[in-house]
Parts: sequence; structure tokens; C-alpha cells
Amino acid sequence: MTRENDPLAALWMPFTANRAYKATPRQLVAAKDMHYTADDGRQVLDGTAGLWAVNAGHCRPTIVEAIQKTAAELDFAPGFQLGHPASFELASRVAAIMPKGLDRIFFTNSGSESVDTALKIALAYQRSRGEGTRTRFIGRERGYNGVGFGGISVGGIVNNRRQFGTLLNGVDHLPHTHSLQHNSFTKGRPQWGGHLADTLESIIALHGPETIAAVIVEPMAGSTGVLVPPVGYLERLREITSKHGIVLIFDEVICAFGRVGGATASETLGVIPDIITMAKGLTNAAVPMGAVAVSRHIHDGVVEGAADGIELFHGYTYSGHPLAAAAGIAALDLYEAEGIFEHATSLHGYWEEAVHSLKGKRHVIDVRNMGIVAGIELEPRPGAPTKRAMELFHKCFDNGLLVRATGDIIALSPPLILQKAHIDEMVGRIADLLETVD
Ligand SMILES: Cc1ncc(COP(=O)(O)O)c(C=O)c1O
Repeated sequence: MTRENDPLAALWMPFTANRAYKATPRQLVAAKDMHYTADDGRQVLDGTAGLWAVNAGHCRPTIVEAIQKTAAELDFAPGFQLGHPASFELASRVAAIMPKGLDRIFFTNSGSESVDTALKIALAYQRSRGEGTRTRFIGRERGYNGVGFGGISVGGIVNNRRQFGTLLNGVDHLPHTHSLQHNSFTKGRPQWGGHLADTLESIIALHGPETIAAVIVEPMAGSTGVLVPPVGYLERLREITSKHGIVLIFDEVICAFGRVGGATASETLGVIPDIITMAKGLTNAAVPMGAVAVSRHIHDGVVEGAADGIELFHGYTYSGHPLAAAAGIAALDLYEAEGIFEHATSLHGYWEEAVHSLKGKRHVIDVRNMGIVAGIELEPRPGAPTKRAMELFHKCFDNGLLVRATGDIIALSPPLILQKAHIDEMVGRIADLLETVD
């Protein structure tokens, strides 16, 4: 065995330019409410809620205490053929804030696992109702549905796919809805683009509806650079999928838990799918956990339709883990007790005006917003796409602001406990630093 002196060498970092990072490492060592502390002691305003996840702000005492107490009481309980009270309690609590009818909850450990679980449930459901030929999935270009083989197959980000072979068979993709030509600097939901949902009819006609199990989209696509659903788009997907017996899955790993308004984007936008995937804000990101909310109809189809014994051959060692369940209950309590979704919603107008004030600033070719999310698209540097946004990300961090760079887009999604002064600080700092980036 060889040992290296470099303390950073052993960790193969996820979604990171490892060589570049390790040449100039930046580390976080603590967090509280709206701020991180960097390893040099600097306070960094969290413009991204970690990774779209820490909706109630960092290290909230009630969540910390719930985790500590549970760790000392019940460190682990197997979830197969056994249970523990907190997992049932959290499932009931999540069910209570889902859109009506989506009240059967399956726990996972991440967004990626939630997506793969949702896809598998859709297949099992189709089979349970005698539609076993329905094995295809339809995703969307530029979709990010995590990194499992199911998720990257239905997802539509080429860099997440091309290293990994042929992926799942039989997947097709809707076109994405991004158009600078029609929608740049739209505040909120664009008027143009609803018609793109009609492409689903052509895809269904091409393959035959009897071959299609499910359609999966993010109501608002986050990781791909904040693509806001055009007016009428999701409604049309709902109509078409219902008409053809296809399960509609909304991937709300980012959208759920107040990010775009209410507990879910489905509820906020008034379009109810058959399955919702979640993670991130479910536990305020304090312990990894994901969940899949399934309509009673689909759940009962699979469970009641099965022979005696296990109805769904799927689950994870850590499904409903006690620490995650405790963190989830505490997070939902906190969202409710502090009215965090309502507080964030009261700031939507201020947020929109503030982020759109970046129109006309150097390099900015689009600003998009929904809920407490914004995408600020920069003109790619000629011959060096993505470099400009990455440079701005580093400059922001070095100047006390955490943003997210995705392609040539800067994404903002701060904790939902933010105040107007935080919004001013974020937007002001980005405006200033844009001047310093070539
Ligand atoms: C919409 C969506 N789905 C799935 C995932 C994957 O979640 P995780 O990274 O927890 O596996 C993400 C992560 O950002 C996401 O945004």
C-alpha cells in the first residue's frame, strides 16, 4: 500500500474538476442560518441553500436536537418486514402536505434513488393492471433526474450520459422548453412554449401508447439552469398522459418544500401528477433522505393486485432510517411553525424585481425566475464555454457569496428564511463582480 502526503488525494470528488479543485481548494467548515464559514474563517452568504436543499437555513437547533436524540436512542432499525414509529409518522406527515390523493410514501436516501424508485413503481403498476407491454419512459432534453441508470436515461444532459454506454432501452425525450429567442428576461412563467408539450402526442404516436409506462419531467428544471415551465405546458402533459394511460411523474427533488411556493410545485401550479419524487428539503438536507409520493390508485394497483407476500421487490437498507425520519419530522415542524413557505412566498415579488435588475449588466443574456430561484445566463466566452460562469462562481465565493455555476448559468436558490437584505447583498455582489470577469 502506498501512502501519499497530500491530504486531498484520496477523495474522488463528485461532479468536480478534481485536479483544478485540488490545486486551489476551497472548504466549508461550519454553517449557521444563512451563512457558511469557510476554512479561512470568512462568512459566506449561502445563495444556493447548499445544493437547493437547506430550505430552513443551516444547523437549526430543533433539527440538530432531533438527530442527536435519535442517534442515542435508535441508531438503526431494519425497514424490511419491521418498522419504527418515526418512519410511519414522517410518511403520514409528508402525505398530509402532498396534493390530494398522493398519500402513499416510499422512502429512499437521495433524489437519484427517488427517481429510480418512481420509474420502477410505474413499471410495476402498468404490469399489475395487465399492461406489461408498457416499458418505455419519456424524459426531457436538459432534464436532470439524478445519476442512477434510470435517472440518466430519462435525463437529458449529455455530459451526464456519454461516458456510460447505452443506458436503459426504449427511452425517448421531449424537447426542452428553453428559448432565448422567445423568452429571454421573462419574469416568472413564459407565455411561449406551452405548445412544446404537444410533441408528446407525436412521440406516443411513434412508439404506440401501449409501449409507454411513464413520462417524467421536473416541473421547474433546476440543475440544467433554471427552466421555468411555460404557461399551459404542464397542464397539457397531464391531459395527454391521462388520455393514453401513461403515468405522469413530477421530479420535485428541487421544487418541493417551499422552493417555488407551497409544499410542492404541483400544488403551487395546480397540476397534479401520479407520482412525485422528493429529497433535499425533506430533511432540510441534515440527513440524506428522499421520498416518493404515489397516488392511492397506483399504490393500490400494485399492493392490492399482488399475490400474498412482498408486493414490490424494491427498497434500500436505509429506507426510512431513524435519523433521517427524525430530521424529516423536525424539518416539517419547523417549516410549519415558522411559516417558512409563506415567508418565502411573501418575498417572490421582491426577489423577481431584484434578480431582473441584472438585465443590462455585463455578459448577462437572460434572467429567469420562479419562487425563490433564479437563473442568470451569461454569454459564453468565445471558444471557452462555461469558463466565465465558473470564474464568477469562484469570485463570488472569494467575496463571501456562494452561488452555483451550471454551464454558463449562475443559479441562485438561497435558504427560504432569507430577508430582503440578503437578496440585496446577493444581487449587488453579483452585479459588481460581473464587472470584474472578462
Ligand atoms: C430534479 C432532480 N432530480 C434528482 C436529483 C438527484 O438528487 P440526488 O443528488 O440527491 O441523488 C436532483 C439533484 O439535484 C434533482 O435536481
